[in-house]
Amino acid sequence: MRLATFRELEPLCWRAPSAHNTQPWRLDHRPEAILVGWDRAYELPAADPSGRDLRLSLGAFVETCLIVAADAGLRMTFVGDHCRADRRVGWLRAAPHRYDTPFSAAQVLTRRTHRGRFSAGPDAEALAAVDAVARIAGGTVRAVPDATLLARLLRDADRWTYADAAVVGELRSWLRLTPAHPDYHTDGLTDRCLGLSGREATALRAALAAYPVLRRLGLPRLLAAASGSPLALGGAALVLVGPPGMDDASQVEFGRVLARTWLTLHAAGLAAHPLSQLIDAPATRAALGSLLGVAPQRLLHVARVGRPVGPAPPSARRVDGLGQRPR
Ligand SMILES: Cc1cc2nc3c(=O)[nH]c(=O)nc-3n(C[C@H](O)[C@H](O)[C@H](O)COP(=O)(O)O)c2cc1C
Repeated sequence: MRLATFRELEPLCWRAPSAHNTQPWRLDHRPEAILVGWDRAYELPAADPSGRDLRLSLGAFVETCLIVAADAGLRMTFVGDHCRADRRVGWLRAAPHRYDTPFSAAQVLTRRTHRGRFSAGPDAEALAAVDAVARIAGGTVRAVPDATLLARLLRDADRWTYADAAVVGELRSWLRLTPAHPDYHTDGLTDRCLGLSGREATALRAALAAYPVLRRLGLPRLLAAASGSPLALGGAALVLVGPPGMDDASQVEFGRVLARTWLTLHAAGLAAHPLSQLIDAPATRAALGSLLGVAPQRLLHVARVGRPVGPAPPSARRVDGLGQRPR
């Protein structure tokens, strides 16, 4: 494999999804292989204390690298070598064959998280397709059967999120609610991607600035209520379930599965809107697990999935299509 050629493809690999759009990955080019690791500055210790979303994001990045390389004709493989202490997930290495994938670089480029309205949920065929993707790795994708209970769980999960000052502070540090924000075009969650009007973005900025003072006066409940229910925007909630006894390395592998399921949906004209708070909050995670008859620790990811009514805005990246290097 020509490692220098892969460097040119890196801006496209950066289109991989990540929680809060932190883009935590780091590539270290060595003579014999490329080390895939992560930067501590992009961990989410408050929102993601177990590192589950970090590992899913890194796995999604690995899968994206392999798809982009295969599309360019590069023969590359991934060798997992997870080490939390060294902040490393594994190595991208030369391989005898191109990575076998049905996905293209064009799909990597056009896939987006979609937080807007869906005209329909996934049909049985789409659900079977993503389930098949997960089953190859020993997991499964399940639809949440009880919409009323799900709505209640989501409200509880939102309240839990906004009640935690550390989680709110961390979220605030990744929000880019005005184009004047210095990192608006590099990372984080923009007002446009969150689907906020100018007035809503301004109100959210003001509420978050006042959070330390108003927290005890019920602001968390108000924030949770003001965010509305995305479930009212259509679609169906799908849950990615891993096998029993997953360790850190297998969560990275399921990040690869997650990327494949999102690209499978994208190929079918569908999109995903993650609702990670349902799994982050211990009580709603337990309730969701018992609803699905699955041990809560096997729940990896939840997303509202459906057919978008319109296009979603592109999210920012630290490395842009012109090949700029990360900070
Ligand atoms: C593991 C993981 C968890 C995520 N959780 C959420 C979430 O709870 N809510 C949300 O709106 N987006 C969530 N996202 C979507 C990211 O915010 C999104 O991938 C990022 O902003 C980049 O945008 P893009 O997917 O359109 O490229 C998650 C993404 C990943 C990979």
